[in-house]
Order: sequence, then C-alpha cells, then structure tokens
Amino acid sequence: MHKAPRSAIPGFYRMSLADRQAIAREWAGLSEDDLQSLNDSGLSLAQADLMIENVIGRYSLPLALATNFRINDRDYLVPMVVEEASVVAACSAAAKLFRQGGGFAASADEPVMIGQIQLLDLADMECAIEAILARKAEIVARANEGAGSIVARGGGALDLEVRPLRNTTVGDMLILHLHFDVRDAMGANLVNSALERIAPYIESISGGRVNLRILSNLSDRRLARASGTIPRNALAMNDAPGTKAVHWICEAAAFAEADPYRAATHNKGIMNGIDALMLATGNDWRAVEAGAHAYASRGGRYSSLTTWSIDDSGNLRGEIELPLAVGIVGGATRTHRGAQTSLKILGVRSAQELAQVAAAVGLAQNLAAIRALATDGIQKGHMRLHARQLALAAGAAEEKAHAVAAQMVEEGNIGLARARDIVRAQRER
Ligand code: MEV
Repeated sequence: MHKAPRSAIPGFYRMSLADRQAIAREWAGLSEDDLQSLNDSGLSLAQADLMIENVIGRYSLPLALATNFRINDRDYLVPMVVEEASVVAACSAAAKLFRQGGGFAASADEPVMIGQIQLLDLADMECAIEAILARKAEIVARANEGAGSIVARGGGALDLEVRPLRNTTVGDMLILHLHFDVRDAMGANLVNSALERIAPYIESISGGRVNLRILSNLSDRRLARASGTIPRNALAMNDAPGTKAVHWICEAAAFAEADPYRAATHNKGIMNGIDALMLATGNDWRAVEAGAHAYASRGGRYSSLTTWSIDDSGNLRGEIELPLAVGIVGGATRTHRGAQTSLKILGVRSAQELAQVAAAVGLAQNLAAIRALATDGIQKGHMRLHARQLALAAGAAEEKAHAVAAQMVEEGNIGLARARDIVRAQRER
C-alpha cells in the first residue's frame, strides 16, 4: 500500500544541507533544474533586470523548510525565506506540538478581492446610488468583458456594493466596491484592470467624476482560518506541568487582546512565519501584511489575530483568522524559479490551499513565540541557535557543532573566540 510521506522528519535540523536537499528532492520529485534554482537563488541577473527597474544585482536570503506540518489531514514541508534565526526552528517545533493534537484544521474563503472606485462631485448622492445599483448587472458584465480567461476558469466580477462617505475633508464621496473572484492569482492586475474598464461607464451613469481605481488590501472577503489543539501534557517544560504552561500561554494571549502595544509584537511574530512563506512562494508579502494589520483593527482597536483558550479537557486550543490574498500563478510565482521550486515542494493545488497553509504557519509561529515568552523567555532558544551558528563559523564539523554550542551555553560564554577555542581543543583531543 502506498504510504503518504510524513513531514515529521526526525533530526532534519541536524542534517547536512546536501541531505536536506536530497529529502526535498525526494519529497517533491524535484528535477535537476529545480535543484539548481535552490543553489543559484532561482533568479538570473537577466531576469532580475526585467523584474524591476534600475537593477544592479541580486540579493539572496536563506530558503529553509519547516517540518511537522499536518493540515486537514495532509502533510506539508513549508518553504520559508527569512533572515531571522530561530523562526524556522520555532515554527517546526510548534507544528510538532499541534501534530500531537491531530494537526491543524484550516479553511479559506473563495478568492474574492475587493476593488474600489472613488466617485466625487455628485450632484445628488441618493440618485447616483440608485442609478448605479439599477445597473449593477450591466456594470458587472462590463467588468468581465475583456477580463480574459479568468471568466472561463470560473472567476471574474461577481457583485457591486456602494458605500457613501459623507463629510470627508473634501466633502461627500461615493465608494464602489467591485467583488472579483481571482481564482488562483493574487489578483491585483485583474482587479485594477476591471476597475479601469468600468470607470467611464460609472461616470456616465452617475454624473460624477472618478478619481482612484485600485484594489483594497483589506481583502476581508478572502479570509483564511486555522485552528488546532495541543494536549496539555505536550506543553510540560522543565519543572512546570503542562496545565501551568497552558494557563501562562492564555495569559499572554489575553495581554495581546487587550493591549495594542503588545498586539503589535504578538502579530509581528505571526507574520514572521507568514511573510517567510510569502517570500518563498513569490507572493506580495506587503499586501498580506497590510491586510493582516488592518484586519487586526476591525473592532475599532488594534488587537491580536489569534485567540487561545483552554478546552473542556484542559488542553490548549488556538485559532487564527486573517485576510490572505495569495496566489500560485502570475507575478513572481511565474518569473522566479526559486518561488516555483518552493511551490513545488509545498505542493498546494490552489491559492485557497496556500492561504490555509499560511494561516496554520501563522498560528504555529505565534504559539512558538508566546510559549517561549511565557516559560523560558525568548533569549534561551535564540542563544542556543546563535551558539550553534558560531560553532559552525569556528569550523566545527556539522556533527560536532551541537556539542560546541551546548558547552558555550553551559558556560554562559557565547562568542566566536570561545567557539574557536573549543573546536581547537576538540581537534587536539
Ligand atoms: C520576534 O521576531 C517575534 C516575537 O517578538 C513575537 C512575540 O513577542 O510574540 C518573539
């Protein structure tokens, strides 16, 4: 019987880079070309020069895989591009905890983006609203004329809403929201083009003047959710039983819910994971950031994107919900070989599935941070990883780096000079 591969790969972090590549290759059936994209940043100078303006070179970051993810009963290795040490290790460790409770359950809305048209100089706001709503079907049809293959693929403009904004600093204005199903794309180009197509018609039927035509990054019709439960015993640490850790984590969550100063840092931790996945897959992480933080303020006060609670059995339950306007086609996902390889490793079949994975990654990253903060403090783990990197920089062999790092942590003397001394002493022995 064929057994699905497991993303719980013991000791992955201790393997050599070549061994990790071999696992990724086997996992996703990577070609020589795919592997090459991991080794050369996945972007030629010529491609870089076509991607943006005034190019003088390329700039690389590490691409890593987070292990242990199980979402909706499927295993994933999650590609992450990030410059901050500890993020990938923490994410993998948290996913392992969720795995012990059966993994994540995740869902995502249909990929519907909101495009905005700003309409001004209206002689009569109510008449304009009536005229526009009476022609809603015609406007939606015009938005789809010339929209290309997206309509055939089941997407396209769906609906139109009006939102009067009165007494702004420049007077009254009417805002139109075009709802547009972008299928597997992030969708900015599809939506902005549709808005520009319908703007002249909107002016002609309303008698007003259109100013802006642009999508909204508060894509709250495109939400993704993830949740999971961690058995309390899995959270026992040092001398503290799991019940204590569960309680402390919920206290940390309550702090972020109540206080915007803490919520900003709490949500930053969530975005550590989500942005890293966005970068790896060639997505517009600024758009996702903007949507996440705007959504975190939807109650009128900036708050946490996650909720943590204790379930009836005393286990820890976590939930996240946020807008995730992500794509697996178009943009950098098409032009960047590295992004294509990341998507191949991740193996998602739709933008909605990518959004589900991103939500789960955000929840895992959040758990890792607040668990560390509510127990050992964040520095201990950081220092352990930092020590390991120093050990490698001092010339320790992969299999010895762990011991060198452990000795430095034990001595409370973490530095390159000390790492060199220990490595030298090991060699002399
Ligand atoms: C650091 O990059 C992220 C944290 O500050 C997140 C948090 O405080 O929850 C550790």
